[in-house]
Amino acid sequence: MLNLPKKVSIIEVGPRDGLQNEKLFVPTDIKKQFIAGLRKAGLQEMELTSFVSPKWVPQMGDAAEIVADCLDADARNIVLAPNRKGIDRVYSTDCQAVAVFVGVSNSFNLKNINKTTRESMKELKPIIYELKEKNYFVRACISTAFYCPYEGKIDESDSIKLCQEFVEAGVDELSVADTIGMAAPNESFSLFSQLKKHFTNTLLTAHFHDTRKLALANILASLQAGIDRFDTSAGGLGGCPFAPGAAGNAATEDVVYMLARMGIETGVDLNKLIEAIEVVRPHLSSQIESGYYRLHAQTG
Ligand code: HMG
Ligand code: MG
Repeated sequence: MLNLPKKVSIIEVGPRDGLQNEKLFVPTDIKKQFIAGLRKAGLQEMELTSFVSPKWVPQMGDAAEIVADCLDADARNIVLAPNRKGIDRVYSTDCQAVAVFVGVSNSFNLKNINKTTRESMKELKPIIYELKEKNYFVRACISTAFYCPYEGKIDESDSIKLCQEFVEAGVDELSVADTIGMAAPNESFSLFSQLKKHFTNTLLTAHFHDTRKLALANILASLQAGIDRFDTSAGGLGGCPFAPGAAGNAATEDVVYMLARMGIETGVDLNKLIEAIEVVRPHLSSQIESGYYRLHAQTG
């Protein structure tokens, strides 16, 4: 018998991970409508945007405007920030949930944040204490937890050690990522089983990119390891501009559909989710390729 939870939490990352890699600038009003549509579909936890350098990621240059108009008191509104400057920008908003991000792989972290992993941790630890003192919800996104585009296979023990540091610093959630979509289901089962064993008081979330179409298989394997929180992106959009070969995230609609067929509740309305995707689709440079979306487009 499969080990399955009754409910799964979906953390929608489409407005952030989904759009950050998009070549065409998506108008700010469209982003706001997209976020509103995703909320209507029942997505209660969402990454709205990121406070990163607009020179590095121009698509996220409207972060302050997005946050000003898109906070929902009944939802978890998460914004990303990689450094002190990003956190100070968050402090000038009313957002109460922050995601910091670091790569297990040093080479990736240098490409993504222009710092070594150690330098990032040195900067972020006091920031996390400070955020917790101010009662923020803090999520740590752990990139390249399985494979790195520059260093190859990452040792499971290195990913666990980095997670441990974040847990000791006081984060509420670890979102552990297969950044380039290369993990095999046995690897995700193994790492998430270890994380479940080690960190019993921290929310554990899995974040799979779908480069090799293994995201659903990895989600099933992670469910077996006891994970019941998944980052997904409407339309399967996404990818990190500094991780060559990273395709979109697991598509929210495919994950919700699979879970629903297995009798697992997510609280997400698939028809409303498609409506939200239709808001952003005309502004994208590429086609939406998720299985559920394509079938829906053909059959109406
Ligand atoms: P840097 O150039 O080393 O920064 O970039 P710096 O500290 O030398 O400062 C240079 C300039 O940038 C200064 O401005 C700073 O004020 C400004 P100037 O004086 O030249 O006018 N600056 C900033 N501006 C706005 N917001 C900030 C900020 N920080 C400095 N936060 C930096 C370092 C971290 C800024 C840059 O590398 C950066 O923005 N990186 C972000 C990359 C990114 O967004 N990657 C994607 C998100 S992570 C991801 O997708 C992975 C994830 O999905 C999980 C997974 O799948 O693996 C989470
Ligand atoms: Mg990602």
